[in-house]
Amino acid sequence: MASVTIQGVKKNFGDVPILHGVDIDIQDGSFTVLVGPSGCGKSTLLRMIAGLEQINGGEIRIGDKRVNDLPPKERDIAMVFQNYALYPHMTVRDNMAFSLALAKTDKATIDTKVQRAAEILALVPLLDRYPRQLSGGQRQRVAMGRAIVRDPQVFLFDEPLSNLDAKLRVAMRSEIKELHQRLKTTSVYVTHDQIEAMTMGDKIVVMRDGRIEQTGSPLALYDRPANQFVAGFIGSPAMNFLPGTLRQAGGAAEVELRDGTRLPAPVGSGGRDGQSVVYGTRPEHLTLGDTGIPSKVAVLEPTGMDTFVACRHEGTELSAVFRERHDFAPGTLIHLQPDLARAHLFDAGTGQRLVA
Ligand SMILES: Nc1ncnc2c1ncn2[C@@H]1O[C@H](COP(=O)(O)OP(=O)(O)O)[C@@H](O)[C@H]1O
Ligand SMILES: [Mg+2]
Repeated sequence: MASVTIQGVKKNFGDVPILHGVDIDIQDGSFTVLVGPSGCGKSTLLRMIAGLEQINGGEIRIGDKRVNDLPPKERDIAMVFQNYALYPHMTVRDNMAFSLALAKTDKATIDTKVQRAAEILALVPLLDRYPRQLSGGQRQRVAMGRAIVRDPQVFLFDEPLSNLDAKLRVAMRSEIKELHQRLKTTSVYVTHDQIEAMTMGDKIVVMRDGRIEQTGSPLALYDRPANQFVAGFIGSPAMNFLPGTLRQAGGAAEVELRDGTRLPAPVGSGGRDGQSVVYGTRPEHLTLGDTGIPSKVAVLEPTGMDTFVACRHEGTELSAVFRERHDFAPGTLIHLQPDLARAHLFDAGTGQRLVA
Protein backbone atom coordinates (compact mmCIF):
# COMPACT_ATOMS: atom_id res chain seq x y z
CA MET A 1 0.00 0.00 0.00
CA ALA A 2 1.09 3.54 -0.64
CA SER A 3 -0.06 7.12 -0.76
CA VAL A 4 -0.47 8.89 -4.09
CA THR A 5 0.53 12.55 -4.35
CA ILE A 6 -0.54 14.65 -7.30
CA GLN A 7 1.05 18.08 -7.47
CA GLY A 8 0.36 20.77 -10.08
CA VAL A 9 -0.36 18.13 -12.68
CA LYS A 10 -1.08 19.41 -16.18
CA LYS A 11 -2.12 17.74 -19.38
CA ASN A 12 -2.79 18.89 -22.90
CA PHE A 13 -3.78 16.96 -25.98
CA GLY A 14 -2.08 18.88 -28.76
CA ASP A 15 -2.77 22.55 -28.04
CA VAL A 16 -5.83 21.84 -25.95
CA PRO A 17 -5.30 22.09 -22.19
CA ILE A 18 -7.23 19.31 -20.45
CA LEU A 19 -5.91 19.46 -16.86
CA HIS A 20 -4.89 22.86 -15.55
CA GLY A 21 -2.70 22.05 -12.54
CA VAL A 22 -4.33 19.53 -10.26
CA ASP A 23 -3.33 18.88 -6.63
CA ILE A 24 -4.62 15.85 -4.73
CA ASP A 25 -3.25 14.10 -1.65
CA ILE A 26 -4.41 10.50 -1.59
CA GLN A 27 -3.69 8.91 1.72
CA ASP A 28 -2.30 5.45 2.18
CA GLY A 29 -5.18 2.98 2.51
CA SER A 30 -7.89 5.49 1.59
CA PHE A 31 -10.69 5.19 -0.94
CA THR A 32 -10.69 8.40 -2.98
CA VAL A 33 -13.34 9.09 -5.61
CA LEU A 34 -12.80 11.46 -8.54
CA VAL A 35 -16.22 12.64 -9.68
CA GLY A 36 -17.39 15.14 -12.26
CA PRO A 37 -19.33 15.50 -15.50
CA SER A 38 -18.30 13.56 -18.56
CA GLY A 39 -15.27 15.10 -20.28
CA CYS A 40 -13.88 16.90 -17.22
CA GLY A 41 -10.63 14.91 -17.29
CA LYS A 42 -11.14 12.13 -14.73
CA SER A 43 -9.99 9.25 -16.93
CA THR A 44 -7.06 11.26 -18.21
CA LEU A 45 -5.89 11.90 -14.64
CA LEU A 46 -6.33 8.24 -13.67
CA ARG A 47 -4.42 7.13 -16.77
CA MET A 48 -1.62 9.50 -15.81
CA ILE A 49 -1.40 7.84 -12.38
CA ALA A 50 -1.28 4.49 -14.17
CA GLY A 51 1.42 5.68 -16.55
CA LEU A 52 -0.76 5.30 -19.65
CA GLU A 53 -0.66 9.04 -20.45
CA GLN A 54 2.32 11.38 -20.38
CA ILE A 55 2.42 14.15 -17.80
CA ASN A 56 2.93 17.64 -19.27
CA GLY A 57 3.58 19.42 -15.99
CA GLY A 58 3.78 18.83 -12.26
CA GLU A 59 4.55 15.62 -10.44
CA ILE A 60 2.94 12.35 -9.43
CA ARG A 61 4.40 10.31 -6.58
CA ILE A 62 3.40 6.83 -5.46
CA GLY A 63 4.66 6.44 -1.92
CA ASP A 64 7.80 8.56 -1.93
CA LYS A 65 8.76 7.61 -5.45
CA ARG A 66 8.35 10.10 -8.29
CA VAL A 67 6.73 8.12 -11.10
CA ASN A 68 6.42 10.72 -13.89
CA ASP A 69 8.78 8.80 -16.15
CA LEU A 70 8.20 5.28 -14.85
CA PRO A 71 6.52 2.82 -17.25
CA PRO A 72 3.16 1.37 -16.09
CA LYS A 73 4.48 -2.04 -15.16
CA GLU A 74 6.98 -0.56 -12.74
CA ARG A 75 4.39 1.47 -10.86
CA ASP A 76 2.88 -1.42 -8.93
CA ILE A 77 -0.71 -0.44 -9.64
CA ALA A 78 -3.67 -2.44 -10.96
CA MET A 79 -6.47 -0.91 -13.00
CA VAL A 80 -10.09 -2.04 -13.39
CA PHE A 81 -11.94 -0.68 -16.42
CA GLN A 82 -15.58 -0.17 -17.34
CA ASN A 83 -15.45 -2.76 -20.13
CA TYR A 84 -13.67 -5.42 -17.97
CA ALA A 85 -11.13 -6.18 -20.73
CA LEU A 86 -11.23 -9.94 -20.08
CA TYR A 87 -9.65 -12.35 -22.55
CA PRO A 88 -12.62 -14.19 -24.12
CA HIS A 89 -10.66 -17.36 -24.98
CA MET A 90 -9.34 -17.82 -21.43
CA THR A 91 -11.11 -19.29 -18.42
CA VAL A 92 -11.74 -17.21 -15.33
CA ARG A 93 -8.76 -18.90 -13.70
CA ASP A 94 -6.44 -18.08 -16.61
CA ASN A 95 -7.74 -14.52 -16.85
CA MET A 96 -6.92 -14.02 -13.20
CA ALA A 97 -3.55 -15.75 -13.46
CA PHE A 98 -2.48 -13.98 -16.65
CA SER A 99 -0.44 -11.10 -15.25
CA LEU A 100 1.29 -13.36 -12.74
CA ALA A 101 2.19 -15.86 -15.47
CA LEU A 102 3.50 -13.00 -17.56
CA ALA A 103 5.72 -11.99 -14.63
CA LYS A 104 7.01 -15.59 -14.53
CA THR A 105 5.60 -16.25 -11.07
CA ASP A 106 5.88 -19.93 -10.14
CA LYS A 107 2.79 -22.09 -10.56
CA ALA A 108 2.25 -22.86 -6.87
CA THR A 109 2.23 -19.18 -5.97
CA ILE A 110 -0.14 -18.39 -8.85
CA ASP A 111 -2.54 -21.13 -7.72
CA THR A 112 -2.53 -19.86 -4.14
CA LYS A 113 -3.11 -16.24 -5.15
CA VAL A 114 -5.85 -17.05 -7.65
CA GLN A 115 -7.57 -19.30 -5.13
CA ARG A 116 -7.42 -16.64 -2.45
CA ALA A 117 -8.81 -13.91 -4.74
CA ALA A 118 -11.53 -16.28 -5.98
CA GLU A 119 -12.56 -16.96 -2.39
CA ILE A 120 -12.70 -13.26 -1.53
CA LEU A 121 -14.87 -12.58 -4.60
CA ALA A 122 -17.02 -15.74 -4.44
CA LEU A 123 -15.66 -16.88 -7.81
CA VAL A 124 -14.47 -20.36 -6.80
CA PRO A 125 -17.34 -22.24 -8.56
CA LEU A 126 -16.75 -20.21 -11.73
CA LEU A 127 -12.99 -20.66 -12.15
CA ASP A 128 -13.28 -22.99 -15.15
CA ARG A 129 -15.88 -20.97 -17.03
CA TYR A 130 -15.24 -18.61 -19.93
CA PRO A 131 -16.23 -14.90 -19.80
CA ARG A 132 -19.19 -15.48 -22.17
CA GLN A 133 -20.65 -17.91 -19.63
CA LEU A 134 -20.75 -15.23 -16.91
CA SER A 135 -23.23 -12.47 -16.02
CA GLY A 136 -22.14 -8.83 -16.16
CA GLY A 137 -21.62 -8.70 -12.41
CA GLN A 138 -19.55 -11.89 -12.43
CA ARG A 139 -17.35 -10.53 -15.23
CA GLN A 140 -16.79 -7.39 -13.22
CA ARG A 141 -15.76 -9.52 -10.25
CA VAL A 142 -13.26 -11.40 -12.44
CA ALA A 143 -11.82 -8.06 -13.54
CA MET A 144 -11.39 -7.17 -9.87
CA GLY A 145 -9.93 -10.60 -9.16
CA ARG A 146 -7.32 -9.96 -11.79
CA ALA A 147 -6.37 -6.76 -9.97
CA ILE A 148 -6.36 -8.40 -6.53
CA VAL A 149 -4.01 -11.29 -7.42
CA ARG A 150 -1.30 -8.77 -8.19
CA ASP A 151 -1.51 -7.38 -4.68
CA PRO A 152 -0.62 -3.92 -5.95
CA GLN A 153 0.16 -0.78 -3.97
CA VAL A 154 -2.77 1.04 -5.55
CA PHE A 155 -6.05 0.05 -7.25
CA LEU A 156 -7.32 2.36 -9.97
CA PHE A 157 -10.97 2.02 -11.04
CA ASP A 158 -12.40 3.77 -14.10
CA GLU A 159 -16.22 3.71 -13.97
CA PRO A 160 -16.19 -0.05 -13.31
CA LEU A 161 -19.95 -0.28 -12.75
CA SER A 162 -21.23 1.80 -15.67
CA ASN A 163 -22.11 -1.21 -17.82
CA LEU A 164 -24.22 -2.90 -15.16
CA ASP A 165 -27.95 -2.49 -14.66
CA ALA A 166 -29.16 -0.31 -11.80
CA LYS A 167 -29.80 -3.07 -9.26
CA LEU A 168 -26.51 -4.83 -9.84
CA ARG A 169 -24.66 -1.54 -9.66
CA VAL A 170 -25.98 -0.96 -6.15
CA ALA A 171 -24.95 -4.48 -5.11
CA MET A 172 -21.46 -4.17 -6.62
CA ARG A 173 -21.03 -0.77 -4.99
CA SER A 174 -21.17 -2.33 -1.56
CA GLU A 175 -19.08 -5.30 -2.69
CA ILE A 176 -16.25 -3.01 -3.74
CA LYS A 177 -16.57 -1.04 -0.53
CA GLU A 178 -16.45 -4.21 1.54
CA LEU A 179 -13.47 -5.40 -0.44
CA HIS A 180 -11.67 -2.19 0.37
CA GLN A 181 -12.52 -2.47 4.06
CA ARG A 182 -10.99 -5.92 3.97
CA LEU A 183 -7.86 -5.34 1.87
CA LYS A 184 -7.34 -1.64 2.73
CA THR A 185 -5.43 -1.12 -0.51
CA THR A 186 -5.21 2.56 -1.51
CA SER A 187 -7.91 3.02 -4.16
CA VAL A 188 -8.68 5.76 -6.64
CA TYR A 189 -12.12 5.42 -8.16
CA VAL A 190 -13.44 7.45 -11.10
CA THR A 191 -17.17 7.94 -11.69
CA HIS A 192 -19.58 10.53 -13.10
CA ASP A 193 -22.23 9.28 -10.68
CA GLN A 194 -22.46 11.42 -7.55
CA ILE A 195 -24.38 8.73 -5.64
CA GLU A 196 -21.53 6.28 -6.25
CA ALA A 197 -19.10 8.96 -5.08
CA MET A 198 -21.12 9.72 -1.94
CA THR A 199 -21.68 6.12 -0.93
CA MET A 200 -18.20 4.76 -1.66
CA GLY A 201 -15.64 7.47 -1.01
CA ASP A 202 -13.78 8.34 2.21
CA LYS A 203 -12.80 11.40 0.26
CA ILE A 204 -14.37 12.92 -2.83
CA VAL A 205 -12.64 15.14 -5.36
CA VAL A 206 -15.15 17.08 -7.47
CA MET A 207 -13.75 18.05 -10.87
CA ARG A 208 -15.00 20.33 -13.63
CA ASP A 209 -13.28 21.28 -16.88
CA GLY A 210 -9.87 20.02 -15.77
CA ARG A 211 -9.93 21.74 -12.39
CA ILE A 212 -10.78 20.69 -8.87
CA GLU A 213 -13.85 22.42 -7.51
CA GLN A 214 -13.72 20.94 -4.01
CA THR A 215 -12.18 18.09 -2.04
CA GLY A 216 -13.65 16.67 1.15
CA SER A 217 -15.58 13.93 2.89
CA PRO A 218 -18.97 13.07 1.34
CA LEU A 219 -20.94 14.77 4.10
CA ALA A 220 -18.70 17.85 4.16
CA LEU A 221 -19.44 18.35 0.45
CA TYR A 222 -23.12 17.81 1.05
CA ASP A 223 -23.37 20.12 4.06
CA ARG A 224 -20.96 22.85 3.00
CA PRO A 225 -20.48 22.94 -0.77
CA ALA A 226 -17.82 25.53 -1.64
CA ASN A 227 -19.72 26.81 -4.64
CA GLN A 228 -22.91 26.51 -6.63
CA PHE A 229 -21.47 23.89 -8.99
CA VAL A 230 -20.66 21.44 -6.17
CA ALA A 231 -23.99 22.28 -4.49
CA GLY A 232 -25.88 21.34 -7.65
CA PHE A 233 -23.75 18.31 -8.46
CA ILE A 234 -23.83 16.56 -5.08
CA GLY A 235 -27.24 15.45 -3.78
CA SER A 236 -30.26 13.83 -5.39
CA PRO A 237 -32.76 15.24 -6.11
CA ALA A 238 -30.58 18.27 -6.71
CA MET A 239 -30.48 21.41 -4.58
CA ASN A 240 -32.98 24.15 -5.49
CA PHE A 241 -31.56 27.52 -6.52
CA LEU A 242 -33.50 30.78 -6.28
CA PRO A 243 -32.07 34.05 -7.60
CA GLY A 244 -32.46 37.09 -5.34
CA THR A 245 -30.90 40.13 -3.72
CA LEU A 246 -29.30 40.30 -0.29
CA ARG A 247 -30.94 42.91 1.98
CA GLN A 248 -29.10 43.84 5.14
CA ALA A 249 -30.32 47.35 5.88
CA GLY A 250 -32.07 47.68 9.24
CA GLY A 251 -31.42 44.51 11.16
CA ALA A 252 -31.55 40.86 10.21
CA ALA A 253 -30.22 39.87 6.78
CA GLU A 254 -32.82 38.72 4.28
CA VAL A 255 -32.87 37.47 0.73
CA GLU A 256 -35.43 39.15 -1.48
CA LEU A 257 -36.59 36.88 -4.28
CA ARG A 258 -37.66 38.20 -7.70
CA ASP A 259 -41.34 38.32 -6.74
CA GLY A 260 -40.60 40.30 -3.58
CA THR A 261 -40.84 37.32 -1.22
CA ARG A 262 -38.34 37.79 1.61
CA LEU A 263 -36.60 34.85 3.24
CA PRO A 264 -34.35 35.19 6.27
CA ALA A 265 -30.75 34.75 5.06
CA PRO A 266 -29.19 31.40 6.00
CA VAL A 267 -27.55 31.25 9.43
CA GLY A 268 -23.97 32.56 9.17
CA SER A 269 -24.37 34.37 5.84
CA GLY A 270 -21.83 36.94 4.73
CA GLY A 271 -22.19 39.22 1.71
CA ARG A 272 -23.18 42.88 1.34
CA ASP A 273 -26.43 44.78 1.03
CA GLY A 274 -27.74 44.76 -2.53
CA GLN A 275 -25.54 41.85 -3.66
CA SER A 276 -27.03 39.53 -6.30
CA VAL A 277 -27.18 36.10 -4.74
CA VAL A 278 -28.53 32.61 -5.25
CA TYR A 279 -30.41 31.07 -2.34
CA GLY A 280 -29.94 27.30 -2.14
CA THR A 281 -32.13 24.82 -0.35
CA ARG A 282 -32.23 21.05 -0.66
CA PRO A 283 -35.55 19.35 -1.45
CA GLU A 284 -35.43 17.44 1.85
CA HIS A 285 -34.95 20.68 3.84
CA LEU A 286 -38.28 22.21 2.80
CA THR A 287 -41.43 21.99 4.89
CA LEU A 288 -44.98 23.20 4.26
CA GLY A 289 -45.90 26.46 5.98
CA ASP A 290 -48.25 29.42 5.89
CA THR A 291 -45.40 31.62 4.72
CA GLY A 292 -42.26 30.87 2.73
CA ILE A 293 -41.69 30.42 -1.00
CA PRO A 294 -45.04 30.52 -2.82
CA SER A 295 -45.03 27.63 -5.28
CA LYS A 296 -47.51 25.98 -7.64
CA VAL A 297 -47.60 22.19 -7.61
CA ALA A 298 -46.79 20.72 -11.02
CA VAL A 299 -46.34 17.00 -10.40
CA LEU A 300 -46.73 14.78 -7.36
CA GLU A 301 -44.78 11.51 -7.11
CA PRO A 302 -45.58 9.32 -4.12
CA THR A 303 -42.95 6.57 -3.73
CA GLY A 304 -44.60 5.06 -0.68
CA MET A 305 -41.66 5.95 1.53
CA ASP A 306 -41.93 9.67 0.77
CA THR A 307 -43.66 12.18 -1.47
CA PHE A 308 -41.75 14.01 -4.16
CA VAL A 309 -43.32 17.29 -5.27
CA ALA A 310 -42.18 19.21 -8.34
CA CYS A 311 -43.38 22.80 -8.29
CA ARG A 312 -42.77 26.20 -9.84
CA HIS A 313 -42.01 29.53 -8.27
CA GLU A 314 -41.93 32.46 -10.70
CA GLY A 315 -40.67 30.27 -13.53
CA THR A 316 -38.07 28.54 -11.35
CA GLU A 317 -38.45 24.78 -10.94
CA LEU A 318 -38.40 23.67 -7.32
CA SER A 319 -38.54 20.22 -5.84
CA ALA A 320 -39.47 19.16 -2.36
CA VAL A 321 -39.42 15.79 -0.65
CA PHE A 322 -41.73 15.15 2.26
CA ARG A 323 -41.60 12.22 4.58
CA GLU A 324 -45.36 12.38 5.07
CA ARG A 325 -47.99 11.71 2.42
CA HIS A 326 -49.77 14.48 0.50
CA ASP A 327 -52.35 14.58 -2.20
CA PHE A 328 -52.18 18.03 -3.80
CA ALA A 329 -53.97 18.58 -7.08
CA PRO A 330 -51.73 20.02 -9.82
CA GLY A 331 -51.92 23.82 -9.71
CA THR A 332 -52.37 23.98 -5.91
CA LEU A 333 -50.52 26.92 -4.34
CA ILE A 334 -48.31 25.85 -1.43
CA HIS A 335 -45.72 27.68 0.66
CA LEU A 336 -42.34 26.04 1.11
CA GLN A 337 -40.32 26.94 4.14
CA PRO A 338 -36.55 26.32 4.00
CA ASP A 339 -34.71 25.05 7.06
CA LEU A 340 -32.55 28.13 7.81
CA ALA A 341 -29.80 26.26 9.56
CA ARG A 342 -29.30 24.11 6.47
CA ALA A 343 -29.85 26.69 3.72
CA HIS A 344 -27.07 27.92 1.42
CA LEU A 345 -26.17 31.22 -0.18
CA PHE A 346 -23.94 31.84 -3.19
CA ASP A 347 -22.74 34.90 -5.05
CA ALA A 348 -24.75 35.06 -8.28
CA GLY A 349 -21.71 36.01 -10.36
CA THR A 350 -18.92 33.78 -9.09
CA GLY A 351 -21.03 31.02 -7.55
CA GLN A 352 -18.84 31.11 -4.43
CA ARG A 353 -20.38 30.16 -1.10
CA LEU A 354 -21.32 33.10 1.15
CA VAL A 355 -22.14 31.17 4.31
CA ALA A 356 -19.41 30.76 6.92
N1 LIG B 1 -6.33 10.85 -26.65
C1 LIG B 1 -7.00 12.03 -26.64
N2 LIG B 1 -6.77 12.96 -27.59
C2 LIG B 1 -7.42 14.14 -27.59
N3 LIG B 1 -8.32 14.50 -26.65
C3 LIG B 1 -8.58 13.62 -25.68
C4 LIG B 1 -7.95 12.34 -25.62
N4 LIG B 1 -8.43 11.69 -24.52
C5 LIG B 1 -9.31 12.52 -23.95
N5 LIG B 1 -9.41 13.68 -24.63
C6 LIG B 1 -10.25 14.84 -24.24
O1 LIG B 1 -9.90 15.22 -22.93
C7 LIG B 1 -11.04 15.61 -22.19
C8 LIG B 1 -11.13 14.79 -20.92
O2 LIG B 1 -11.41 13.45 -21.26
P1 LIG B 1 -11.56 12.31 -20.16
O3 LIG B 1 -10.39 12.34 -19.26
O4 LIG B 1 -11.83 11.04 -20.89
O5 LIG B 1 -12.87 12.80 -19.38
P2 LIG B 1 -13.79 12.00 -18.33
O6 LIG B 1 -13.15 10.71 -18.02
O7 LIG B 1 -13.91 12.92 -17.17
O8 LIG B 1 -15.12 11.84 -19.03
C9 LIG B 1 -12.23 15.46 -23.13
O9 LIG B 1 -12.51 16.70 -23.67
C10 LIG B 1 -11.72 14.50 -24.17
O10 LIG B 1 -12.38 14.71 -25.38
MG1 LIG C 1 -13.82 8.74 -18.35
